[in-house]
Amino acid sequence: MHTEYTITQFSTHAQGLTGWLATHRGLSVGHIFMQEEPNNRIKFLDAWVHPDHRREGIFRSLWEERWEYVLDKHPGHTAYAWCLPSSLPMLLDNGFTQGDVCVYVEREITADLSFCGPTVPITC
Ligand SMILES: CC(C)(COP(=O)(O)OP(=O)(O)OC[C@H]1O[C@@H](n2cnc3c(N)ncnc32)[C@H](O)[C@@H]1OP(=O)(O)O)[C@@H](O)C(=O)NCCC(=O)NCCS
Repeated sequence: MHTEYTITQFSTHAQGLTGWLATHRGLSVGHIFMQEEPNNRIKFLDAWVHPDHRREGIFRSLWEERWEYVLDKHPGHTAYAWCLPSSLPMLLDNGFTQGDVCVYVEREITADLSFCGPTVPITC
């Protein structure tokens, strides 16, 4: 199935965030954001596509709109992102260089430093 969707760019009034929203019949089916940071750096963040509409190229379309925008508005800046496995291939395909791998960790904040089990399920 191929979803018909419209992409709209929008800017927030805070945090230097610019977004692109993909909508289908008035409902959001996906979005991506970028954030302007000091030292000519641009953070790419928060890519999301509704599970019912994945692998139809919506992320790729949103990406291309954002890339056209930064090429026009921020040439020469450095774009970076923290990627999950499903978004990493797009960034590598688009010439990004892979850095170190980060591992998510957490604990309850207590005075007792003894081990406490994870509060998220470990499923791998
Ligand atoms: C990651 C995500 C945004 C991809 O959206 P999508 O619209 O399904 O992606 P597209 O169909 O445009 O695919 C573009 C490319 O991304 C990569 N990709 C997408 N989903 C992938 C997956 N599950 N595993 C590996 N690569 C994937 C592929 O390189 C794909 O190109 P291809 O279809 O030619 O192989 C979507 O799966 C999602 O919202 N995931 C949950 C949130 C998330 O992980 N966001 C990333 C935060 S860093």
